[in-house]
Amino acid sequence: MNPGDTFAGLWREFEPLGRDPQTGGYRRYSWTPADAACRAWFTDQAQKRGLAVEPDNNGNLWAWWGQARADAIATGSHLDSVPDGGGFDGGLGVVAALAAVDLLKAKNFNPERSVVLAAFTEEEGARFGVPCLGSRLLTGAIDPQAARNLTDDAGVTLAEAMTAAGCDAGLIGPRDDLLGAIGAFVELHIEQGRALAPLGAAVGLAESIWPHGRWRLDFDGQADHAGTARFADRHDPMLPYAATVLAARQIAARAGALATFGKVIAEPGGSNGVSAAVRAWLDVRAPDEDTLRDTVTSIRSAAEEFSAEHGVTLTVRQESLTREVRFDRDLRDRIAAVLAAPPVLAAPPVLPTGAGHDAGVLSARLPTAMLFVRNPTGVSHSPAEHAELADCEAGVRALAAVLENLAGPAVSADHAALADPARPPEPMGPARP
Ligand code: GLV
Ligand code: MN
Ligand code: MN
Repeated sequence: MNPGDTFAGLWREFEPLGRDPQTGGYRRYSWTPADAACRAWFTDQAQKRGLAVEPDNNGNLWAWWGQARADAIATGSHLDSVPDGGGFDGGLGVVAALAAVDLLKAKNFNPERSVVLAAFTEEEGARFGVPCLGSRLLTGAIDPQAARNLTDDAGVTLAEAMTAAGCDAGLIGPRDDLLGAIGAFVELHIEQGRALAPLGAAVGLAESIWPHGRWRLDFDGQADHAGTARFADRHDPMLPYAATVLAARQIAARAGALATFGKVIAEPGGSNGVSAAVRAWLDVRAPDEDTLRDTVTSIRSAAEEFSAEHGVTLTVRQESLTREVRFDRDLRDRIAAVLAAPPVLAAPPVLPTGAGHDAGVLSARLPTAMLFVRNPTGVSHSPAEHAELADCEAGVRALAAVLENLAGPAVSADHAALADPARPPEPMGPARP
């Protein structure tokens, strides 16, 4: 192991990949050259560490440390980004996984259960609209043919994009054999939101993920001349769209939910014309599924009313829905005990989050857990997203301790159950159906 292959050394190499020089944000869209560069870098780093890298036909990469294909401990995150996203969202968990392997190898740790590093594809759904597409395909949470037919903004299908990148889209779909070989998945991720900073904690644990979803609203009106069409004669889709944005904010705020229109396309896009259509994407997240459903229903009703007022046709289509996730309690308690013991020595705060993650999708099939690394401003999905190097390194140490405990000897691990001797660590069960 080269001395330079610490977290900081790895981060220096990974950080420039897919970064836009103008904005400083990342455009690591799946199946593009930026994505290929990230995959090639991960593959190369894994192979340098003697890990066997295997794609899973769905675009996700798996790098195996150890031969045993049963009860393996998986860690990792995603390589893709939102438009002009931060470099830590996803990338931190992948780089931290490599750095954690380095720490464990440096102390001659020999995993009793294999450790496998995962790099997921299209977690953000930034190109094809469905978040966590790689883990959904892996777990069978999306029909492969429906996935193949997903299109990006240029009309390129997932199947075409995969083919252009040299992969066979005919092979995508569930991999029960792979899931059956994994006993638990632990994803390290930058914190999104700002809960750890006021608590003075560098690392936290995830408790749950809010249910959330995305809806596409098509407001179809009538294109016309900005200088001659009288207001009374217009069917301007921009007006019901704008009224819906404001209503969504009010409705969601009243319900204790969040609603966001982050993407909008006006067609044909002339500055001196009434638009023919406005296509808008609504993202809604709520603390529980009833609130989510009611919030979306109310926003939809408001949009219908505003559209009718302006003689505009509205079509609403759900693009994705992610149910509430409650992370595995036993795994979380075991990890909390590991982190409260030497050498990490800090009881981690346990936090809910409104952000979606592959660990959430995998939780339908496996015990999963998440470590969050402090985000001093809380900003994410932005070039301003940041984590301090010392906190990233604390995250790597925490992840290494967790992997050592989970992949090490079942009972005699140093870290197990030290925080609560009355509660011995649960043995990891087999994958849940
Ligand atoms: C993923 O980052 C999401 O929650 O949208
Ligand atoms: Mn994200
Ligand atoms: Mn992420």
